[in-house]
Amino acid sequence: MKISKVVVLGTGTMGNGIIQVVAQSGYQVTMEDINDSLLSQARQKIEKSLSKLVEKNKISAEEKENTLSRISSSTSLDVVTDADLVIEAVPEKLDLKAGIFEQLDKLAPGHAILASNTSSLPITAIAAATKRPEQVVGMHFMNPVPVMKGVELIRGRVTSQETINSAIEFVKSINKFPVVAEDYAGFITSRILNAYLNEAAYTVMDGNTPKDVDDAMVYCTNMPQGPCALMDLVGIDTIVYILDILETEFGPKFRTAPLLRQMARAGHLGKKTGRGFYEY
Ligand SMILES: NC(=O)c1ccc[n+]([C@@H]2O[C@H](COP(=O)([O-])OP(=O)(O)OC[C@H]3O[C@@H](n4cnc5c(N)ncnc54)[C@H](O)[C@@H]3O)[C@@H](O)[C@H]2O)c1
Repeated sequence: MKISKVVVLGTGTMGNGIIQVVAQSGYQVTMEDINDSLLSQARQKIEKSLSKLVEKNKISAEEKENTLSRISSSTSLDVVTDADLVIEAVPEKLDLKAGIFEQLDKLAPGHAILASNTSSLPITAIAAATKRPEQVVGMHFMNPVPVMKGVELIRGRVTSQETINSAIEFVKSINKFPVVAEDYAGFITSRILNAYLNEAAYTVMDGNTPKDVDDAMVYCTNMPQGPCALMDLVGIDTIVYILDILETEFGPKFRTAPLLRQMARAGHLGKKTGRGFYEY
């Protein structure tokens, strides 16, 4: 199936990166969020990110302007009526995502593929909110989207091979590397990564400083970045949502470190709020 028009729902940490790379690859993209101020913030972030690429001579000033000209915005889900692909990147809550997919199913053209950027929720559960579960797929981008090469594609229980093939082609067309994963909560990446991040939070609760935990993992085990810095990048609220889902599916080995819950309650969500394990 030929994809030309893409709609991205949610312009937060992940949404704006997805919008940028998709528009840079020549697609027309409409971004949708709950209010105009969030949409203008997203445009500013994308513009800033593209300007950095121009400064580093990775793209030309013309390419930056062309990319921005391919991005339009809306606060209404009606924009999906001519979409070939919808990528949902709203917060990690099943009821919220299921409600959105139910509406998407009614509004999007019959041929459209409906993708979720969920990090951990079963795609089969999201797909069940629609009457086209064979056209629902997980499209799990990594943070920061413009930098990270891999995209995990999740095959729900009834996702068709045709949908998986179109998703693979799309991911390649935006210069990313697709990896197909089976539909158990957390798939491959989030299941392994969040076990590690949660354990790192417990080591901070034990009295280690976030800096020592990060230094230990960077200098002693060659991780490219420490787990506390990574949690601040991902968003503490998002990690708590993911761990709760993993605990429901796999049991107490994923019990969220109480420190993470306390930080989430305090609004210390990491980079996006200016304070998490570190201050920004
Ligand atoms: N943060 C990460 O590192 C990361 C990595 C991979 C996947 N994910 C997944 O991506 C999704 C989004 O996470 P995020 O970190 O970008 O969250 P975020 O909180 O930074 O952004 C979510 C955005 O969705 C918007 N939104 C909320 N309700 C909406 C609605 N009804 N319609 C349209 N927009 C709505 C919010 O206003 C916000 O702009 C989640 O499923 C998360 O698990 C996150």
